[in-house]
Amino acid sequence: MNIAIVGATGNVGRKILEVLEKKELSIDNLYLVASSKSAGTKIEFKGKKHEIFDLKDFDFSKARITFFAAGGKISETFAEKAAKKSLVIDNSSFFRMDPDVPLIIPQVNPDDLNNIKKNIIANPNCSTAQLVIALKPLHDVYKIKRIVVSTYQSVSGGGKAPMDELIEQTKSVLDSKKVESKNFTKQIAFNAIPHIDVFSDDGYTKEELKMTHETKKILDEKIELTATCVRIPVSISHSEAVNIEFEKPFVLGEIRKILDNFEGCKVIDERSDGGYSTPIEAAGKDETFISRIREDKTIKNGLNLWIVSDNLLRGAALNAVEIAETLIKNDYYGK
Ligand SMILES: NC(=O)c1ccc[n+]([C@@H]2O[C@H](COP(=O)([O-])OP(=O)(O)OC[C@H]3O[C@@H](n4cnc5c(N)ncnc54)[C@H](OP(=O)(O)O)[C@@H]3O)[C@@H](O)[C@H]2O)c1
Repeated sequence: MNIAIVGATGNVGRKILEVLEKKELSIDNLYLVASSKSAGTKIEFKGKKHEIFDLKDFDFSKARITFFAAGGKISETFAEKAAKKSLVIDNSSFFRMDPDVPLIIPQVNPDDLNNIKKNIIANPNCSTAQLVIALKPLHDVYKIKRIVVSTYQSVSGGGKAPMDELIEQTKSVLDSKKVESKNFTKQIAFNAIPHIDVFSDDGYTKEELKMTHETKKILDEKIELTATCVRIPVSISHSEAVNIEFEKPFVLGEIRKILDNFEGCKVIDERSDGGYSTPIEAAGKDETFISRIREDKTIKNGLNLWIVSDNLLRGAALNAVEIAETLIKNDYYGK
């Protein structure tokens, strides 16, 4: 099994390496690829130093599976070329809504892997992934009509540079120095910014629209979803306050059981001080944590949830590796 990772030096690329280290996948050759800036430097994997290759010169025929985690522009330019020689699992948003590219969360819609046409499989947006994992088992039983979601997203969702900037800004504030914002539109330290990705004409941001469109593509086109996405000064893990309207009535005890029994979900909902999940506790864990499970008494069949998950793991690296595992298990070798 030969594997390549484009963007191996970034947040998601490094997490993919961590996940691969823990998994039992046997890898014969691993090719780490990044920009010319990193080419020639080394990253350790399973005790062995691996040199970084320059994307511009990389021969994709060396790898059976190539993970792309270097941003939409790089995927746009290189993924289709790579897909002629290697099966591509793309973490960027570039191919997600392409009808010929399946958008996959293995425990939610594995059957969509039967629809690989371009040799490319897309990984969903991090905020969509954790939401859909929690909603899938509930949709199967009670049928979701409408979702209202507000996100509290960590800075690592924007990449390594914004993560470093949160620390720099925090130090500047504590030292009473002038705060400079390079990767954010406003100061992020001790603040909240209701703007992730670019604005569209109707006032929604692309991050908000991604949540709507990706949820429909993965779960059900009939589901209506409206989102407000907010960046907060947290390093890792996204949180979501979610309001759901079902077609069918439910009993809270059943909701808990269904969520707790679904692969990848964990209910932490004690209705007491500290009896809920927070971003720090979710960081580094594979599960999607669900807390604050309550009936919304203002609508028929309404439910409120608080969903927290590690955006780099669940929302990107782990999901990407699980897609690869599913394909390998199914003996899929690409077109
Ligand atoms: N962070 C998340 O929670 C998350 C979740 C889901 C999906 N994603 C997606 O995953 C992708 C990567 O995100 P990230 O957070 O890992 O970003 P990041 O930390 O900024 O890392 C970017 C990576 O891309 C590489 N890169 C940049 N320009 C390049 C070029 N011209 N040629 C080759 N490689 C280049 C960088 O290499 P150098 O070090 O050499 O510059 C680095 O390895 C994005 O598409 C993002 O939307 C991220």
